[in-house]
Amino acid sequence: MIELTHTILETRAVVQKQISEGKTIGFVPTMGALHQGHLELVCQAVLENDFVVVSIFVNPIQFNNADDLAKYPRTLESDILKLGETGCKLVFAPSADEMYPEPDLTKFDFGLLDKVMEGKFRPGHFKGVAIVVKKLLEIVMPTKAYFGEKDFQQLAIIKKMVNKLQMPVLIVPCAIVREPDGLAMSSRNARLTEAERAEAPVLYRALSGIKENYSWFIPDGIRQLIRGEIQENQLFRIEYVDIVDTETLQPFEDWSDVEHAVVCVAAFIGNVRLIDNIVLY
Ligand code: PAF
Repeated sequence: MIELTHTILETRAVVQKQISEGKTIGFVPTMGALHQGHLELVCQAVLENDFVVVSIFVNPIQFNNADDLAKYPRTLESDILKLGETGCKLVFAPSADEMYPEPDLTKFDFGLLDKVMEGKFRPGHFKGVAIVVKKLLEIVMPTKAYFGEKDFQQLAIIKKMVNKLQMPVLIVPCAIVREPDGLAMSSRNARLTEAERAEAPVLYRALSGIKENYSWFIPDGIRQLIRGEIQENQLFRIEYVDIVDTETLQPFEDWSDVEHAVVCVAAFIGNVRLIDNIVLY
């Protein structure tokens, strides 16, 4: 049976009891509208911890687009039903007033990490993510917290924050979960029209198509190839295609400049903004 809490006080009390009994706590923060990708994070957390908490909170301060916030799917009841099958023990679903009784003015310095890609196109987004994740980690006090690699830059920023603040939690990255046609699972996929859904796997096809032979070209050549392939489809409007160092998230000129490289892409298909990435090496 899953317990549902809405306040910080109740949540802390439940978690503290578990910790006092020597239990390890696994935590999966989400904004709800759960799909198989989330459920796999939860199942991994259940395997690796004694007590698993999932938070469901559509965090208003990480949206830089009011329309995106308004349209974000809110499906608490069906989310709880889905979680019932995973072994998750507690769902924390606070209101915005509970999380932000007054504006949170915490400041972070992520150096260059948040100046590129999502950070460039969604000003203020990572500040909002960092504020809420810090707050959630302080409330839930997990041993391990699980984040999907689809949000590659978010993961890098959270790791940086946890490191800088020396928070006693292990951040566990989890592989992207894809639909059979390659589309990365996302709560936003539910907003695609039938025609858009049919074309959406173009993103993954463009990324995976270069995985084998990328080294035949320079990084910028690969970037152009991927852009060209996506743009052949009229439904897409690309925001960025960037090839960056997996650690620093900075672009580079030659494959030998970095130890590991990832291609990250963000594009609108109709009104829905999708992101995806593939680690090349
Ligand atoms: O990845 C998400 O769903 C959100 O950014 C997160 C980590 C739950 C913070 O609101």
